[in-house]
Amino acid sequence: MKALGIVGSPRKGGNTETITSHALKALAEEGIETELIPLAGLRIEGCTACGACANAETCPIDDDLLPIYHKMKEADCIILSSPVYFSSATALIKGLMERTGFIGRNNGRVFKGKTGGPIVVGRRGGQNFTFAQMNYWYQILEFYMTGASYWNIAFGRNKGEVANDQEGLDTAWSFGKNLAYLMKKLNA
Ligand SMILES: Cc1cc2nc3c(=O)[nH]c(=O)nc-3n(C[C@H](O)[C@H](O)[C@H](O)COP(=O)(O)O)c2cc1C
Repeated sequence: MKALGIVGSPRKGGNTETITSHALKALAEEGIETELIPLAGLRIEGCTACGACANAETCPIDDDLLPIYHKMKEADCIILSSPVYFSSATALIKGLMERTGFIGRNNGRVFKGKTGGPIVVGRRGGQNFTFAQMNYWYQILEFYMTGASYWNIAFGRNKGEVANDQEGLDTAWSFGKNLAYLMKKLNA
């Protein structure tokens, strides 16, 4: 079984990457194969509503999305994480959600039955809104989802600061453990 952690921050090695790695470490400890995919430095455009994915499992936009879509399709568990940008998810992760969601829904509901959920990091405000915003993607795509010891949010501004948010780290850890439990039950 494999879990992906897709980090929607344009900043490489930042807080979102740190906390997502922490959740993946909890999954790895349970024997789940893990892979972290930072979107930093990649180009992921938003959906243009061209409708091409209704006829073929692809997207005509020539950017970095499709290889990630195929990795998502193969994975059993997908964690999408984002920093809070103006009380919302980043454009990078939103572009990925729009397009993978549409391609997947239009081509046999490829995400149905996978596990996963979002993790969000911000300096001060907007984490719960962003967490809720991202949860909608999972729900309509028929993921099996799990809770954690708190909502999957954490605090930090400059790179590395999230390491001081012990409750945020503990939440991500419990989220990883709960996902591993769910994956094992579903595959039993
Ligand atoms: C354009 C921009 C908008 C932001 N908006 C918010 C915000 O609305 N609320 C908040 O708490 N933090 C906000 N932040 C701070 C980031 O969420 C915070 O620095 C976070 O740790 C960045 O994650 P990263 O290190 O993974 O890039 C914003 C940062 C940027 C660059």
